[in-house]
Amino acid sequence: MIIAIDGPAASGKGTIARALAAHFGLPHLDTGLLYRAVGAKALADHVDFEDEAALAARAGALDLAALDPEALKSGAVGEAASRVAALPQVRATLLTVQQDFARQPGGAVLDGRDIGTVIAPHAEVKIFVTASPEARAERRYRELAGRGEPVTYDQVLADILRRDARDSGRASAPLIRAGDAVVLDNTALDRNASLTRALEIVAARTGR
Ligand code: CDP
Repeated sequence: MIIAIDGPAASGKGTIARALAAHFGLPHLDTGLLYRAVGAKALADHVDFEDEAALAARAGALDLAALDPEALKSGAVGEAASRVAALPQVRATLLTVQQDFARQPGGAVLDGRDIGTVIAPHAEVKIFVTASPEARAERRYRELAGRGEPVTYDQVLADILRRDARDSGRASAPLIRAGDAVVLDNTALDRNASLTRALEIVAARTGR
């Protein structure tokens, strides 16, 4: 069973994806980490964000097993990720590794922006997780402030709105809901209620 979870920044898609993977005993890939790793490498190597070939080369050199989520969570890396993710050569370079992950025997859970539309269009279950920009900004603000980053709520909201516009407006694999994805709006749902809803969606689609 392939479960594809897509949604905008800080929508809680990662939490739902991890919980579903644990529940069904499936491997999980947070595809945002791939773009974050390329963004982090670009920052570290001072690569020009217009230099698509150099950024695609960094994408090609990524080692999936060596990704460190903790080191990639900062706001600056998220911003860099969103910029490199708009580049077709970077996306093309990261396509195979994601498709191979999805095709594992037994299935997998992947979360990102284009899982249900590009990476695994034949996934049995597709969930589009979303929440209001204000609810997402509040969550991301608490997360970043909790890590000691000097940010304000207003800055985080502005960042979320800019990321939404960039992710949805780009020509290459924009963030759009797959026609057969079920929307899970968790603006007013806590973590447990979101997960219960996600399990209901899986059960309705697959009987599991
Ligand atoms: O949740 P948040 O948006 O902060 O982070 P993420 O899911 O780790 O994704 C970071 C950036 O990577 C996003 O802004 C997207 O632009 C990009 N991304 C993408 O384009 N396609 C994916 N499948 C996953 C992430």
